[in-house]
Order: sequence, then structure tokens, then C-alpha cells
Amino acid sequence: MRVLVIGATGYVGSALAERLADAGHEVVALARPGRTAVAGAAEVRTGDLADPAALTAAVTPDIDAVVHAGPPSGDAEADAAAIDALTAPLRGTGRAFVYTSGVWVLGATGAATADEASPTDPIPIVGYRPEIERRVLAAAEDGVRATVVRPGIVHGRGGGIPGMLVGWARADGAPRVVADPAVRWPMVHVDDLADLYAAVLADAPAGTVWHGVTEPAVPVGDLAGAAARAAGVTGEPSVWPLEKAAAELGEPFAQALALDQSVSAGQARDRLGWRPSRPDAVTDLQAGSYA
Ligand SMILES: NC(=O)c1ccc[n+]([C@@H]2O[C@H](COP(=O)([O-])OP(=O)(O)OC[C@H]3O[C@@H](n4cnc5c(N)ncnc54)[C@H](OP(=O)(O)O)[C@@H]3O)[C@@H](O)[C@H]2O)c1
Repeated sequence: MRVLVIGATGYVGSALAERLADAGHEVVALARPGRTAVAGAAEVRTGDLADPAALTAAVTPDIDAVVHAGPPSGDAEADAAAIDALTAPLRGTGRAFVYTSGVWVLGATGAATADEASPTDPIPIVGYRPEIERRVLAAAEDGVRATVVRPGIVHGRGGGIPGMLVGWARADGAPRVVADPAVRWPMVHVDDLADLYAAVLADAPAGTVWHGVTEPAVPVGDLAGAAARAAGVTGEPSVWPLEKAAAELGEPFAQALALDQSVSAGQARDRLGWRPSRPDAVTDLQAGSYA
């Protein structure tokens, strides 16, 4: 398969590009101007998510599938225009389009565990993202094999949000969490997530949503403790009050870090045969890629 990947230089997209290349697919990276080489990519095309004409031009007839692993811009209209531009050349062809969303669209789950059929209840940082998901899935009506992947908090390769916990621990000499150590995050290893995209590209029917989560609800206090061990520090854990974290990180992101969720991904295991195999987040933090 020849797969156009948007975001192939990013955390999620670079693992995906590598995974696809290892599996014998040909990756075409859509990168912003100035990039001439991208790891894992056989070809680099230039474009920007803010430039719909360039996006449409990049989806040439030799492209079998498109994966969008770029970030939201904060502008709902611009993001919708990017989806339209990327899916336009795919309409009526049955070719695949995979959009990367995230579990924050589900909001706080309370005592329940959210699955792929649960309603969305987005927190402000992802406020309009369910609309973008709906726009993607609507392309299924027009002959696009359109799907949505919602990763949990991604760990692995020493990166992502867990890397920030290690940085805080190093700065404080102790574990630090926002708001409450009992807050739970759904987690996924970046390489297991890359496997999920490969399975979705291979087999997922049009109009479907897939959760990329391997651990439904890991207390952030456990993650912060493991981050402190990765940083080699042993001080007493501290709680960063939400208002103070918001002043430094911005309120939407601080709220997201304080979001308590439990999210399952049974559908990907049952229907796509997804078999995650990488270390869990605490093990990865304290004895793996963050050490
Ligand atoms: N990381 C997580 O824990 C997590 C969890 C759930 C969902 N997600 C979602 O997964 C997606 C990827 O996240 P990530 O963590 O991999 O982000 P990331 O590391 O910041 O990577 C973003 C990628 O998108 C590219 N990009 C940014 N703005 C662009 C633009 N205007 N035009 C074209 N390309 C652009 C970046 O290219 P440059 O190299 O040029 O900057 C980079 O390749 C996002 O939609 C995010 O919301 C992530």
C-alpha cells in the first residue's frame, strides 16, 4: 500500500511511518515546507494543513490510503476545510482515510468505562473535534473508507505527555501531578498504537471509530511516581493545584491533564485482532524508554 501520512515527523506519525515501512508499505510523508527527508518515508510531498489546495494536490491517484496524524489548529473551519480537501480525491474510490482524534472527546467518564459507542462530551481543548470526527465519518457515505482512531495518552520512546512528568520530577526532585493523584488516564504505547493504525488501514470498515488504548485507567499518581524513578529522584510527591497549573500551562491543557477517564478498546482487539505487546506505562516509565 502507498500511504500518505500527515504528521509523519511527529510523535505518533513517526512511529506509524516506521511501522508501515517495516511492514513493506510505501510511506509518502506530507511535510511542511523545508523538509526534504522524513524517516521511514520513501517520498516527501510539501504541504500545510492550512493550505487545502496543497492537501488535495498531495492525494494523487497512486495514493492508496491517507492517515491524518497532524494536530488540530484551534480553528474549526480550517480543520474542516482540511478534511474536505484530503477526502475530496478519495470520494467514490473506496480508498482509506484515517483521522486521528483522541479520547479527550469523551470527557470525564466517572465510574463507567467508555467504549467506541459512548457519546462524546468534549472538554474545551477538543471542543469542536467531535464535529470533525462526524465530518470524517460522513465521507463514508461518499465512497471513502473513512475511519477515526482515538488514542489514549501515548507513551513510549521516551516521549509524549509522560515525558513531561519526567521533566517535572527532575525539576522538583519529586513526583508532581496536576489536581489529584487519583485522576486516571487511559494509556497506549506508541508502537502498539502504530500497530492499530496498520490494522485499521488493512481491515476497518468505512464509518467506524477505534479506541487506541491498552490500559483503560492508570492513576496519574502511579505514572508520576514511575516518572520520578525514571528521573532518579526520591522526594515526596506534590499536587499542583489546577489553578496554578492553568496559569503556567494554559487552562485548556491543565484541565485535560486533570481529566479522569476510563476508556476501553475491546472493539479493536475483537474485530481487528489488535494484539498490543509493549510494556505498560508504569513499567515503560520506570524501567524502559524514559530511564
Ligand atoms: N500524543 C498523545 O498523547 C496524543 C493522544 C491522543 C491524541 N493525539 C493526537 O494525535 C495527533 C498527533 O499527535 P502527536 O503527539 O504526534 O503530535 P506532534 O508530535 O506535535 O506531531 C504533529 C505532527 O503534525 C505536523 N504538523 C503540525 N502542524 C502542521 C501543519 N500546519 N501542516 C502540516 N503538518 C503539521 C508536525 O510537523 P512539524 O514537524 O513540521 O512540526 C508533526 O509531524 C494529534 O491530532 C493529537 O491530538 C495525541
